[in-house]
Amino acid sequence: MRKNIVAGNWKMNCTLPEGKKLASEVIHMVEDEVKNDAQVILIPPFIHLTGIHSLIGSSNKVLLGAQNCHQSQSGAFTGEVSAAMLVSSGATHVILGHSERREYFGETDELLAEKIKFTLENNLTPIFCCGEKLEVREANDHERLVSLQVEKALFNLSSEDIIKVVIAYEPVWAIGTGVTASAEQAQEMHAFIRNHIALKYDQEVAAEISILYGGSVKPENAKEIFSQPDVDGGLIGGASLKSRDFTNIVKAFD
Ligand code: 13P
Repeated sequence: MRKNIVAGNWKMNCTLPEGKKLASEVIHMVEDEVKNDAQVILIPPFIHLTGIHSLIGSSNKVLLGAQNCHQSQSGAFTGEVSAAMLVSSGATHVILGHSERREYFGETDELLAEKIKFTLENNLTPIFCCGEKLEVREANDHERLVSLQVEKALFNLSSEDIIKVVIAYEPVWAIGTGVTASAEQAQEMHAFIRNHIALKYDQEVAAEISILYGGSVKPENAKEIFSQPDVDGGLIGGASLKSRDFTNIVKAFD
């Protein structure tokens, strides 16, 4: 059975004290208020991982993730962080292929395929991001583009490995813009991705994979988006920086 997941991508926000305050508030609110069994993942900048990990402690609802990692085990890669380092800091998940990494740091699907294989070898769960820019959607080419992103990054994996991956569909035009994909647009793309995986692997494999939606998710729209049959939760940016909003998004599954 695939899991419902709400992950908060803090991006490059929060000093350590700010991050600890935010994480503590979220952990307490989630423990006290949330009735559903969605996994909650806090995804702070690398440097805060150990500090936030000690706050999460033995919570069985809240997990820790990172925003990127390198595709090598170790070595002369100044400024980079490896999957093994993330695991040793308490992370269970890592975002790979966020559109900001693709856009500003030139990450390609070929590179992401390497990173994904590598994180799985280190028992770290990749949250693989895909999604189209506005001009691609306007040209009605979004399904072709997203299917290529998914194929290039994931379709070299075995069935046992691809079911360990979490996919996040994040249309670039909806990220940080306040413009959310409609629940119908999200469902349509999620069903398309799942079907694409079913055609390559099979229905059972496709049914096991959690597909999250990301792009201007807020407490006000979370319930409608999450209630779509192929939407298994969200990857939240701006609203994950406010403990009340983020917790209310998690509560959308109640
Ligand atoms: P916003 O929720 O701020 O639109 O960001 C989405 C996102 O990029 C999460 O990874």
